[in-house]
Amino acid sequence: MLRKPIGVFDSGIGGLTVVKELFTTVPFEPIVYFGDTARVPYGGKSVETVQRYAREDTELLLSYGVKMIVIACNTVSATALEEVERTAHGIPVIGMIGPAAEEAVRVTKNGRIGIAGTEATIASGAYEHAIAEEGKKQGKSCTTFTVACPLFVPLAEEGWTNHAATGLIAEEYLGALRESGVDTLILGCTHYPVLADVIQKTIGTTVTLVNSGAIAAKRVAELSIKAHMPDTAHPIPDHTMLVSDVPRKFQQIGERFLGRPMPEVGLVTWKESWVVRRV
Ligand code: DGL
Repeated sequence: MLRKPIGVFDSGIGGLTVVKELFTTVPFEPIVYFGDTARVPYGGKSVETVQRYAREDTELLLSYGVKMIVIACNTVSATALEEVERTAHGIPVIGMIGPAAEEAVRVTKNGRIGIAGTEATIASGAYEHAIAEEGKKQGKSCTTFTVACPLFVPLAEEGWTNHAATGLIAEEYLGALRESGVDTLILGCTHYPVLADVIQKTIGTTVTLVNSGAIAAKRVAELSIKAHMPDTAHPIPDHTMLVSDVPRKFQQIGERFLGRPMPEVGLVTWKESWVVRRV
């Protein structure tokens, strides 16, 4: 019997940092990944637009018969989690915010937590809210410091992980956060683990980086093992990779993100109709 896959989506290539973690935490699970490369980035768009994209992305994954959905995008997790849950009709949905907030509250020693993310993620206040709730649960008083880092996304997609320009931009974004004395920094965007070295160097080596995708991948494993026993008859699962534009570029950069060859990347297109609003 064919196993149902886990569906994973992101606005583009950043979600592959989560897939990389899933390859370790649930190596027996087949994955269908969708990167919405035609519409990336989501991080500077309005909540309404991101919610619409999230609904459409979820519908695509549902058409592949997925048994679980991983929102490998902090922007969607911060602004459209309920939208995805509603569209998924009871299929478990794992977002990035809750698990990362829980981990950050657990690891902080001085209670000063930094959050770096897209403009939409930061504007949503989702991390501050989740950290305040977690602080209550864990009995810790935490103060949050946030920064939007929109240029990190194209830098990660360009593969400029060691470029001098990336260092300068990181200093511009993270300098004030470093001065505020945070001991923990949430990488609140799935693209940022690609730039983890430069981020760590800029914020300081004593600061603990919380990779939201890595923590969420552990949650997926807990859920997967609880609900579905690993299929030892098919130890090497088949994965499906889909994008909405330029599959070749996705494949080239994606193989670098994943550190391994990727199956051929399929192209999907949306059939949308336009509604014109008169002003
Ligand atoms: N992967 C997205 C996130 O985690 C960032 C890229 C975008 O802005 O679409 O928020």
